[in-house]
Amino acid sequence: MTALYMKKNIKNDFPIFSAEGGSASGGQAQAGKKPFVFLDSAAAAQVPQQVIDAIEEYYKSYKANVHSGIYAIGTKAVEAYENARVDVARFIGADSDEIIFTSGTTASINMLARCLEERIGAGDEIMVSRMEHHSNFIPWQELARRRNAVFGILPLEPDGTLSLDTARRHITERTKLVSITHVSHVTGAVNDVQEICRLAREAGAISVVDAAQSAPHMAVNVRTIGCDFLAFSGQKVLGPTGIGVLYGRRALLEELPPSVVGGGMVRDVRDEESVWASLPSKFEAGTPHAAGAIGLGAAVRYLEHTGGMDVLHEYEIRLANMARRALRDIPGITLYGPSEEDQTGSICSFTLRGIHPHDVAEVLSRENIAVRAGHHCALPLMRHLGISGTVRASFYLYNTGEDVERLIHGIKKVQEIFYSTNSKIKTQNHN
Ligand SMILES: Cc1ncc(COP(=O)(O)O)c(C=O)c1O
Repeated sequence: MTALYMKKNIKNDFPIFSAEGGSASGGQAQAGKKPFVFLDSAAAAQVPQQVIDAIEEYYKSYKANVHSGIYAIGTKAVEAYENARVDVARFIGADSDEIIFTSGTTASINMLARCLEERIGAGDEIMVSRMEHHSNFIPWQELARRRNAVFGILPLEPDGTLSLDTARRHITERTKLVSITHVSHVTGAVNDVQEICRLAREAGAISVVDAAQSAPHMAVNVRTIGCDFLAFSGQKVLGPTGIGVLYGRRALLEELPPSVVGGGMVRDVRDEESVWASLPSKFEAGTPHAAGAIGLGAAVRYLEHTGGMDVLHEYEIRLANMARRALRDIPGITLYGPSEEDQTGSICSFTLRGIHPHDVAEVLSRENIAVRAGHHCALPLMRHLGISGTVRASFYLYNTGEDVERLIHGIKKVQEIFYSTNSKIKTQNHN
């Protein structure tokens, strides 16, 4: 067994890994079954007890609409909701009034694309890269279509990475907006978003960073990156589902119109027109997901108290590199993404010759190992790589060296099953 773990007892914080919880098929773990190995945190991270407690406390002891206010639990709810905003702001180096709660990265980017509608005109260029998640691709493609703008796509290198030279060549004074992922959710490739945002700024363009795969795994600071906007999802940073964040630089947020209007976001409503509330309420119409925000605040505090993001990042990279090295040694495997180990996040994507990714995931699931298989909402990247999908193993702070060993062992089992079946079929065909 490989003794690589971030903190010996960290799994104990996550009920899903306890004896009662946890199996790749859902429901209770069965006696005698191998321990649950969860390698799909890039899609949805597991939740520590501390987050569950924070949400439960809200529902059990002070559930109130955060717009209600005056009575005791109403005040407590507002306080907890706003404290969560302070926690999230600290987590990414922003001011709290620059944090808008949304339902996730997808909602953040769609909302932003609507708010920026009037800033984009005919012939302006909106630039994304070919490695984007559909959620950071389609909203911009649609905005370009609505505004008769040009939808530009930064081309990638053969291994699916983006070179800075390409970015330098393509971001020009015609470019009005650049939206780029910090870390690829497919290959784990890390983009130099600081430099890309600098290029955007130099060209006079607005910069947007999709931090869905970076905020959970490394120190992200909006001032250091120098972005205008940044989005991430609560459920990928150990928080609950249905909560997300849109950070915006204050000066820009103040200028932009809201995209959703209604209760809770106005200072005054007259027959002719309405006056918007100040930041961040202007962008949070309707009843917000208070329990989600409170849970997200608890998740961020948990991450900070568990060694901090630099320690976590270093640990995950060690784990992912250990997996990559072991995977490379397996005959018939193709690993995607940068070959330089220091350029990757905690994600490994691969295919096995002659075996469909769904079949790999299915057999691994029988071994109580959860991985993702498919196109990962990245069809433009899949086409670039000339494949229809991959198997993706993504690591987080609760994964261990043993989990990597189980994965490798599981893949060998997949090969045994499929290669021996294939050779039997071949032999039968010959007979
Ligand atoms: C890079 C990236 N962007 C955006 C998203 C969309 O996030 P959500 O579904 O939480 O809105 C994901 C989800 O996997 C992602 O990995």
